[in-house]
Amino acid sequence: MLIVAGSPSVHLAEKTAAQLKVPYISTQFKKFPDGEKYVRVNGDVKGQDVVLIQSTALKPDEYLIEYFLLADALKDLGAKRIRAVFPYFAYARQDERFTLGEAISFQTVVKLIEAVGTSEIYTIDSHRHRIPDLAKVFRIRSHELTAMHALANYIKERFTLSDPIVIGPDSESEPWVRTVASELGTSYDVMEKKRLGPDKVEIKPLSLNVKGHDIVITDDIISTGGTVIEATKILLGAGARRILVACAHPILAENALEKISAAGVEDVVGTDSVQSPVSRVSVAPIIAEALRK
Ligand code: R5P
Repeated sequence: MLIVAGSPSVHLAEKTAAQLKVPYISTQFKKFPDGEKYVRVNGDVKGQDVVLIQSTALKPDEYLIEYFLLADALKDLGAKRIRAVFPYFAYARQDERFTLGEAISFQTVVKLIEAVGTSEIYTIDSHRHRIPDLAKVFRIRSHELTAMHALANYIKERFTLSDPIVIGPDSESEPWVRTVASELGTSYDVMEKKRLGPDKVEIKPLSLNVKGHDIVITDDIISTGGTVIEATKILLGAGARRILVACAHPILAENALEKISAAGVEDVVGTDSVQSPVSRVSVAPIIAEALRK
């Protein structure tokens, strides 16, 4: 097995290769003056089982193109099979046609991934709520992994929590919230959220009493921070003692972290599925274990 990575995932790929004790093959990336991308694989992959790790947050279009160019090149260079790891899977939120005429972007991306010769795919806590099983969209073998146990264990080890409750900011977060609550041995609840715009949401107050409790808000993604900020306002307003946030994918667009901390969140714990200042839990062991299986 060999590990190869796209530009945003080099660090994670090196860690995964070290966990698996397999070679990491470096890559080269350049951008031409007109914006086109150049990629090169610096090693012999002929006859090899190649794992290609590529996170697609923040610059989804550019990173997907990198993936397509790399996968196609690897195939052309004689790789026996290509297993894709998308720690963060861009476009998964548009998994349905919400309004007539819209592209179902998730489906399009899936088709392209398959078309470049990907043999198998792994992803982590992907946001495709209306598709209960990845096998419903992928024709190749697909694996959904979760970082929620690792996030909960990190919180258990690093924080002393007083009467904690795990809260999800919307009904879709329930499976992640349930997992974290079960690891922490606490109760949980989810709020009701309505999205009003790209960075604006409305959240209904909970009927659950949170007064005096430490709260661990748990979600898959923090993008603009709008969701976490709104949930924090409501929970602090209802008397919560302290707010911590756990998330799998800390995209943290547009100064989200500063805004979240200004809203009263004490700490945010995320993974390195997307490199960020709060990427304190590595998904490398999770990926390595899945690949070993
Ligand atoms: C949406 O349902 C997701 O689970 C997250 O809550 C959402 O993507 C977070 O986005 P933002 O940080 O921009 O509110």
